[in-house]
Amino acid sequence: MTKKKILVSGGCGYIGSHTIVDLIQHGYDVISVDNNSRSKADMLDGVAQITGQKIKNYTVDLCNSDDTFAIFQENPDIAGIIHFAAYKAVGESVEQPLLYFDNNFNSLINILRCCTIFNIPHFVFSSSCTVYGNPNESPVTEDTPIKEAASPYGYTKQVGEQMIRHTVNSSTLQAILLRYFNPVGAHPSIAIGELPIGRPANLVPAITQTAIGKLPQMQVFGDDYATRDGSCIRDYIHVSDIAHAHTLALNYMIEGKNNSDCEVFNLGTGNGYTVLEAIQTFEKVSGCKLNYVIAERRPGDIEAIFANNEKARDVLGWVPKYNLDQMMETAWAWEKKINQQP
Ligand code: WQD
Repeated sequence: MTKKKILVSGGCGYIGSHTIVDLIQHGYDVISVDNNSRSKADMLDGVAQITGQKIKNYTVDLCNSDDTFAIFQENPDIAGIIHFAAYKAVGESVEQPLLYFDNNFNSLINILRCCTIFNIPHFVFSSSCTVYGNPNESPVTEDTPIKEAASPYGYTKQVGEQMIRHTVNSSTLQAILLRYFNPVGAHPSIAIGELPIGRPANLVPAITQTAIGKLPQMQVFGDDYATRDGSCIRDYIHVSDIAHAHTLALNYMIEGKNNSDCEVFNLGTGNGYTVLEAIQTFEKVSGCKLNYVIAERRPGDIEAIFANNEKARDVLGWVPKYNLDQMMETAWAWEKKINQQP
């Protein structure tokens, strides 16, 4: 039986590359489109190292409608799309909202337009727990009311979900929206991992870069929140667990098991950890004492959020495998590898 071909946008990125590994290992053929504005093309060398397969990447900006259209013309056998390509730093989006609106909306519009023109049947969208805004309580379920987004990044995900719903309602496209909590860690082989461009916005790469000495010190953005130790609570989830959920979501639609044309799933472990607890876990597994200071709150941050993941477990059969120790271990192993340290 011929393998189904999946187009992964943002395939050279952190979650995209890990998802390509999982798709290949579960029998799919994959092509990538990534303009490498926030990623490195050689991440696909790491994918080849793990899977033995060289992935074709179209170095195309999805905001260019003609170039995007040409990819679909060249690949009439695309059976599904997983759309990761977007800017995703909460803090940066607060400083540069129009950059986020331009990139995240126009790339999505172009790829959705191609889905309708080329009758692509299945679409998986990289959404985010930031769509919930600052929830009144956690864990949040997929039915937790959507509040005002706390950042332009979260707003682009809220509107992105609505754009997909309306496209699904007016076409034959079927979609699944995956709301990630905080993806962290690296593939256990450490052939692929997170490669932040410039100073890392996210917590775990900031921790590992500080520990290895690339950053002199890191800041904990606030310890005056109403949490058990004053620092923000997040639901950290291993990137390989996130990746596998995409394969399960595609299988679910391709096998015709989906209950509606557009379904939403939370992807988190269901455990909330504070920033200081995450740092303590890193120090425990790495044996490094982290050099950090308590700083002001970061605009756009919410106080606490973690997932109710029962729907993904019950419906998709998704079972997260990695715990926080393992997330920190793989993140640290990757950081040491890319800095050629034993
Ligand atoms: C986590 C916590 C910071 C850096 C991320 C992704 C976003 C979305 C949701 C998928 C916050 C604190 C951070 C630092 C710190 N995921 N922090 N010092 O903002 O929750 O958003 O998950 O779509 O794409 O960005 O993640 O790692 O930036 O912050 O104290 O140097 O760590 O204040 O409380 P965030 P993050």
